[in-house]
Amino acid sequence: MSTQRELFSSRLGFVLAAAGSAVGLGNIWGFPTQAASNGGGAFLLVYLLLAFLLAYPILMVELVIGRHARANPLDALRATAEGKTIAPLGAAIGGYGVLIASLILSFYAIVGGWMVSHALQPIATVLDQDAAASWLIEFSNPRNILFTTVFMALTVLIVARGVKGGIEKWSSRLMPLLIGLLVLLIVYVLTLEGAMEGLTVYLVPDFSQIASPQLIISALGSAFFSLSLGVGTMMIYGSYIDEKESLPQLGGIVTGLDVAIAVMAGFLIMPAMYVALASGVEIYAADGSLISEDTLIFTVLPALFNTMELAGLVVGFVFFALMSIAAVTSSISMLEVPVALMIEKTQFSRTTAAWLCGAVILCISTVILFNFGDLFGAVIAFTTRYSQPLLGMMFCLWMGWVWHRSAVLAELQRGAPAIESSLFWKVWPNYVKIVCPIVIVAIIWQSF
Ligand code: PHE
Repeated sequence: MSTQRELFSSRLGFVLAAAGSAVGLGNIWGFPTQAASNGGGAFLLVYLLLAFLLAYPILMVELVIGRHARANPLDALRATAEGKTIAPLGAAIGGYGVLIASLILSFYAIVGGWMVSHALQPIATVLDQDAAASWLIEFSNPRNILFTTVFMALTVLIVARGVKGGIEKWSSRLMPLLIGLLVLLIVYVLTLEGAMEGLTVYLVPDFSQIASPQLIISALGSAFFSLSLGVGTMMIYGSYIDEKESLPQLGGIVTGLDVAIAVMAGFLIMPAMYVALASGVEIYAADGSLISEDTLIFTVLPALFNTMELAGLVVGFVFFALMSIAAVTSSISMLEVPVALMIEKTQFSRTTAAWLCGAVILCISTVILFNFGDLFGAVIAFTTRYSQPLLGMMFCLWMGWVWHRSAVLAELQRGAPAIESSLFWKVWPNYVKIVCPIVIVAIIWQSF
């Protein structure tokens, strides 16, 4: 444990950095259509509940372990089992987390690069560079490699500047901007023809769809990805929180913000889809479901922007700038995981570690790009569908069964002296020890 470890400078700094990590592509391209197809307003309620019932408790596990150990995930898990023969297993689990965080970044940087190139396309169009404009939005390896590199370089530049001067500073700048742009777009889209229909589909509750266990389990899975759990990101961010802060409170704020921005994104995406429908754009897939994820972002919405002429250029630029911001505040939290490990294990400076880790991960991205059909989907499934829940379960089991409960309590009491008599402390320890692992097994089971 080093006393000179850099910390977030304030509560707000942590909240914005952690919310920046949590709010990412998943919130914007996944959540709104998932909600609209699964019971609208009723789904929103269930999602809110699930975020607080499953994701929040696991977020707390990561924050408590991280702040206690003030170290990378590998050393943090080992430290909480100090003196026990099982300690090396903790290091192995932490190492697995670092690997998965790096692999998630390897595909996330590709998608982030697409966001940046799509944001530049309207600019090229305004400058009458039509060939460049179409090159920017056409799938090709030269474009993909260039923009993955640009996106990775942005990520490295921020992480290299440190916890306060890089991660906190840029999250504090970009998160308000993200919320501002989102509000601006929502207000504009709601004035267009067809928007109200989209809102109705999004919000009118249909409780008959809620009972499906399949639905609940898939919502749990996305809450997990959305809160950046299971890869050590939140453990690392936790390790930079000041001792005087109440962890349960901070975790609650971050969970609330993540859900709130996902719900807000629905106020943009769903009306936009129905505005697109009113202009003749196809918004349903062959099986009748709403088009979602990358096809939504790179096909449906650009088709809508095209119908809007000049306004479409502005809206397209603002939208892809928003997506780029959402992606970069998440990617820095992924890169910080291997970088923190490298700084703490070697003599390298933060700058060197950031460039080295970024370069290695960029090589992995390049391999994925050259074998796109075989690897892109496979890496996403391996990391987000299987590894993240599995690691989350291991963190829970580790805290519940390996770490001393008195030490957990002592860590929580640092910023929340009255915690012992709270409902949180009565429920949470056994809950993460027993209930969370069972639920996660169900999630993994279902995804097979
Ligand atoms: N939460 C991010 C998103 O929704 C993804 C993420 C996963 C970030 C794991 C960090 C670690 O896009």
